[in-house]
Amino acid sequence: MVIVAPSMLSADFSRLGEELSRITEAGADWAHLDVMDGMFVPNITIGPLVVEAIRPISDITFDVHLMIQDPIRYVDQFAKAGADYITVHTEAEGDIMGAIERIRELGKHPGISLNPDTPVSEIERYLEHVDLILVMTVQPGFGGQKFRENGPEKISRIRKMADATGRRILVSVDGGINRDTGRRCVEAGVDVLAAGSYLFKQEDMATEIALWKGF
Ligand code: DX5
Ligand code: ZN
Repeated sequence: MVIVAPSMLSADFSRLGEELSRITEAGADWAHLDVMDGMFVPNITIGPLVVEAIRPISDITFDVHLMIQDPIRYVDQFAKAGADYITVHTEAEGDIMGAIERIRELGKHPGISLNPDTPVSEIERYLEHVDLILVMTVQPGFGGQKFRENGPEKISRIRKMADATGRRILVSVDGGINRDTGRRCVEAGVDVLAAGSYLFKQEDMATEIALWKGF
């Protein structure tokens, strides 16, 4: 079954706890938490303190997407705050392999993400070490952007690379996901749909999530 991960970037930040309860009650599998540092991307969002503050509200899997430079500086704090998956970007500065190894040491699931214009070959060296590959289908930094059409083709190539390792690696997609683009990504081989603006604007989020799970 498809894993549905609403992105809390589109939640009402003045009521973050209630919004986390809302997605949990709507049947979401994971909460996708976008961390931005104003350096790797122009925007700034949340840090470990916020993740820690909302952790007791739900048992849902926390899928932390680090859009930050030199991510190794913060993986310990996010692990301690209650992250389950911690994903770093191949384009970020710093020791990315070291960050991935540290996430594993901390007993969490490491992930690697790549931007829409980054070639798939850039993640090859991380395949043996990660549990998740996050394919960006928008330039990271903001919600509500248009889906990049090279997504599904990139996903099918990444699916094959992931399967060729013989290990179970989840393939996730993030950016511009709605009912149509989500279905196409699942057909291309994706396991996880991370979606912000489209899911949060649904009056009946539960019905939409149930539909996506059955793609
Ligand atoms: C963008 C974030 C996404 C964002 C997606 O940089 O990584 O997780 O919330 O938002 P939508 O689904 O609106 O494109
Ligand atoms: Zn994200």
